[in-house]
Amino acid sequence: MRILVTGGTGYIGSHTCVQLLEQGDEVVIVDNLSNSKESVVSAIEKITGKRPVFYRADILDREALDTIFYTHKIDAVIHFAGLKAVGESVAKPLEYYHNNITGTLTLLDVMREHGCFKIVFSSSATVYGTPASVPIREDFPTGGTTNPYGTTKLYLERILSDLYVSDKRWSVVLLRYFNPIGAHESCLIGDNPNGIPNNLMPYVTRVAKGTLPKLCIYGNDYPTHDGTGVRDFIHVEDLAAGHIAVVNKMADSGVKVYNLGTGVGYSVLDLVQAFERSTGIKIPYEITDRRPGDIAECWSDPAKAERELGWRAKHTLEEMCRSAWNFEKAN
Ligand code: NAD
Ligand code: WQD
Repeated sequence: MRILVTGGTGYIGSHTCVQLLEQGDEVVIVDNLSNSKESVVSAIEKITGKRPVFYRADILDREALDTIFYTHKIDAVIHFAGLKAVGESVAKPLEYYHNNITGTLTLLDVMREHGCFKIVFSSSATVYGTPASVPIREDFPTGGTTNPYGTTKLYLERILSDLYVSDKRWSVVLLRYFNPIGAHESCLIGDNPNGIPNNLMPYVTRVAKGTLPKLCIYGNDYPTHDGTGVRDFIHVEDLAAGHIAVVNKMADSGVKVYNLGTGVGYSVLDLVQAFERSTGIKIPYEITDRRPGDIAECWSDPAKAERELGWRAKHTLEEMCRSAWNFEKAN
């Protein structure tokens, strides 16, 4: 298949491009490099021996998309492109709604014009808001998002579902990711946020490296086994493999929703201890106040993806920690 990967030089997109190329798909990437670097294209080539076609373009740029669809006969789109910083989205709601929602509307309109009706969308566990219980199943209610970033995911899920209702030629897969961490074993691609990281794992690896003095753990008074927040950390390689399973089994028509998680919840302290065990490096930390908007527990029931796609996450938490650390050291 020839697959257009929006946001393909980003963290999850680049790992997915590698696996697509490895199984023989043709890959066309469109990315405006707002949160990634063009050197990722060469990294993907170095890993796979194949160079994906790359367009530095914005998904808001209708003409650029039109040219891409005109030049390449695209069979399906995996749509990663989007802004993803939760805190920044609170400060810049217009930019987030414009980029994520208008960008997706533009993409969908161009897809329709060119007769391409298959799309896999990067959604997020954030659409469940504060779940009534864990593990979270796909049929749990969505809503109650606490920031514009999360709301863009919620609205886009709705928009994509409405699209199918209007025109049964669409095949839509909504993938709700839990907490991706880790990197490709080559250490050539991985999560490399600019500035001080917001997410836990890149913060931990920078403390391990000595770039940051200590980790602040946001609260130890949650109703969890050790009081710290519990999340479903998933290796980015497993997450990428989930996309491969989806693409290989994509129906001709319909809307499908899958959780991509491991089904196991680990606390912040569990992760710190696993990191220390697997790398031999001590992580100094301090317990601080809760971070506004955080929930106590968020972990998936991934049974539907296993049942319908034959996919399940394989990597252990220790493997994820080692992989994240190897990438940090190499970069
Ligand atoms: P990322 O920032 O590394 O990758 C996104 C890519 O999209 C970047 O390379 C960026 O330059 C590009 N981009 C952004 N706006 C664009 C635009 N208008 N036109 C073209 N390119 C644009 O993020 P990621 O972690 O790889 O996330 C990929 C997707 O998965 C995002 O939609 C994100 O919201 C979603 N997601 C991520 C996580 C996570 O924790 N990383 C969790 C759930 C969902
Ligand atoms: C994990 C746990 C923190 C940093 C976010 C988005 C979500 C999704 C994934 C895109 C929490 C604690 C963190 C730190 C800490 N992204 N923590 N000290 O908040 O579960 O999810 O990324 O869709 O939408 O909200 O991930 O890595 O920020 O936090 O104690 O310095 O680590 O409180 O319990 P989160 P995270």
